Formats: sequence, C-alpha cells, structure tokens
Amino acid sequence: MTHSAVDVIATKRDGHRLTDAQIDWVVAAYTRGEVGDEQMAALAMAILLNGMDDAETARWTLAMIESGERLALPDVGRPLVDKHSTGGVGDKLTLALAPLVAACGAAVPQLSGRGLGHTGGTLDKLEAIPGWRAELSTDEVAAQLAEVGAVVCATTPSLAPADRKLYALRDVTGTVASIPLIASSIMSKKIAEGTDGLVLDVKVGSGAFMRTREAAEELARSMVAIGAADGLPTRTLLTDMSVPLGRTVGNALEVAEAVEVLRGGGPPDVVELTLALARAMLGLAGIDVDPAEALASGRAFAVWERMIAAQGGDPGAPLPRATHVETVDAPASGALTRLDALAVGTAAWRLGAGRARKEHPVQAAAGVRLLVGLGDEVRAGEPLLELHTDTPDAVAGARAALGDGLAIGDEPVDRGPLVLDEVGA
Ligand code: URA
Repeated sequence: MTHSAVDVIATKRDGHRLTDAQIDWVVAAYTRGEVGDEQMAALAMAILLNGMDDAETARWTLAMIESGERLALPDVGRPLVDKHSTGGVGDKLTLALAPLVAACGAAVPQLSGRGLGHTGGTLDKLEAIPGWRAELSTDEVAAQLAEVGAVVCATTPSLAPADRKLYALRDVTGTVASIPLIASSIMSKKIAEGTDGLVLDVKVGSGAFMRTREAAEELARSMVAIGAADGLPTRTLLTDMSVPLGRTVGNALEVAEAVEVLRGGGPPDVVELTLALARAMLGLAGIDVDPAEALASGRAFAVWERMIAAQGGDPGAPLPRATHVETVDAPASGALTRLDALAVGTAAWRLGAGRARKEHPVQAAAGVRLLVGLGDEVRAGEPLLELHTDTPDAVAGARAALGDGLAIGDEPVDRGPLVLDEVGA
C-alpha cells in the first residue's frame, strides 16, 4: 500500500504512534529514493521530539534490515557471538576481545565501521598493521570464521542500506541524538549480520555518546528490547567513559596496547573490561571457559596472529611510529585529579588519529600516550603524556583541546567502577 510521506510525518509530529504499515512503507520508499531527504529529515526530527515506543522501534529496525540483505553465514560449527561498543576514547577492546572469545570456542563475526569525531574506529586501528585489509567478501568472512574463529572487517553495502542513508542525513540535520533512532541504527546492522548473541558495551561519560547514566540506561534498555523482539539474545554492560581506557589513544598506539593485553600484560582497566565483555559473550554462547586463562596461556595471542595474517596483515611487522613526539608536562606537583576522556580524545583526533569527515584519511601513528594515570602523584615538570603526530602543526590544536581536561590538585580521586550496570539476557 502506498502512503503519503506528509501523512506519516504529520502522524509523528502530532504525537501519535506510527503503524507497522507506515513504518515499512516510509523506510522502503526512502531507501528507493521515493521519499525525499527533506521529508525523511522532517520525520526524523518529529521522532527525535516525540519518540517511538518499543514496538515502533522494533518495527523500524526490522524495516531497515529488510531494506538490504541478511548476511548468509553458513554453519561454522561454533556459536556466533558479537560485541558492539557505542564508542569511547582509547576503546581498543575489540582487538583483543575477538581473538580471545574465539580462543575460548565461540566464533566472532565483527563487522565494524570507521571512526568519526573524537572516538576511534576499529578498522582505522587495524589498518595501522602493515598489509591488513578490511574489505572481505561474504565467502571470505565465512571461511575465516570457520578456520580462525574471529573476523573483524568492514560492513558490506548490502547490510541495512536504509541505515547508511538515514545516518548520513541525521548527521547533518541535528537528529542523531534520538534514542530510538540510535538503537534501531545499531541493532539493524547487528541483526542483519546474523550473530546468535550480542553483547553491547554502552559507554557513559564525557568521552561517550551518552553523557548521562539515564540516557545510557535508556539506550541499553531500548536495544535489549529490540533484540528480544527479533529473537537475538542481547546483554548490555554500562561502562564508564569519563576517563580514557588504558594508556593509549590513536590507531597504532592502541594496537600495540591490545597486543600487550593478548600477551598477558596491558593496563588493568583494559584487561578488566576485556574479561568482563568476554565472560558476557561466552555466557550468551553457552561456553564455560575462563577467558583469563586463554590470555595468560597465549592461546588468544595465537588466534590474533592467525586473524591478522588471514586478512593479509603481518602481525610481526613493526607498527608505524610518528615522526614528531613531544610531551605535556605537569605545571605543578600534586596528584592528577582530572584526566578527561573527551579532552584526550579530541587532542588525539587533532593530532591526526581521527577524521572530521568520512572521506578524510587518518594518520596511523598519531595519538596520545598517557604516562600517568588518574590519581597518580606527579612532580612539577614531569611529563604527563606524549603527543604523537606526523604533522607538528597540529600540536598547538591538541594542546588547546587538552585545556582544563587535565588538572593537578591535592584532593584524593577515585575513578570508581568500570562496569556500572548490566541490562539484558
Ligand atoms: N552508531 C550507529 O551505528 N548509529 C547511530 O545512530 C549512532 C551510533
């Protein structure tokens, strides 16, 4: 049945529910180009202002999935389980998590995106490894899942094409920050990917999409409800993103840190969260194996080497290093009382680690290495962090971005728990 775009917009503008038929039609017609960008922008704004309930959001998600294909992965002989993070600063968790969970007996089909703004993208990080390639065919994904158990690669254009078009439109019309639209955007891609279970890492704090606990809880609840409506067991961890994760922010720097974790070392916060997410994924997959043992024994590292090599990368090759490195020094003695994730993420981005527009390249070696952690005692003049870049002109902008994101004081600081809450299956 054909509807009128104006009627659909008016329904939501006036605060009513959209019917299943309206949703199916408007998403499909927009994908085909029969509903214009200006009409979809008006509808997205009406949704942002008036919301959608769980049933509408689940139907919207389904319509976006139906706008493309579901990835037809053959039975690879292991349960498929994936993780999605809403994005944070220094969030390199996928790099170690995918091989770790594979080493414990599940298969991880992780179709990822590139970074935009101050949060980095997993593909950008892996592309710092010489030779590694992100684009794989469905057959290659299936073969690698069967042989290695883990694949991290670029999402294909046929997965939820309505979302790709709508996300670009939301980006330029001030309509990204709608919880039903964010939830349906993330879940449509994950459900179309065909995973059997999904763990969501919803980040909360200055460096995250969701700045408040309430908004993060609402997003988590909405995504778990969509998963339930589509029969996808979904578990959500709400995790802190007010401070960067680990000691590095930037592509090659983060790969090196993930390798440390896979070798049984690495910063305690990265290890803690990697294990918490791995346990949640293995729980959904029904596998009773201790992931800490797989890290300590080197089994996860062996899967990492095979995962990288299977995509043309050389896991033993030296990672790119920045041509210019300088430090930011402590202005006074005392404790580091503030280490703001957004400030550090923005500094890394300005150094060249991230992009402002989708088509921009990133510098593999650019970023920030933290030399001290929150609460550590420092002396005046001691280096707090290193700025890495191939474009020294960018340093002034990075220093400005750090602004009052770093502070030295006397009062004791406690980072608080990393995992704030769990929602879902
Ligand atoms: N990530 C997505 O994939 N979609 C959104 O809408 C926001 C973040």
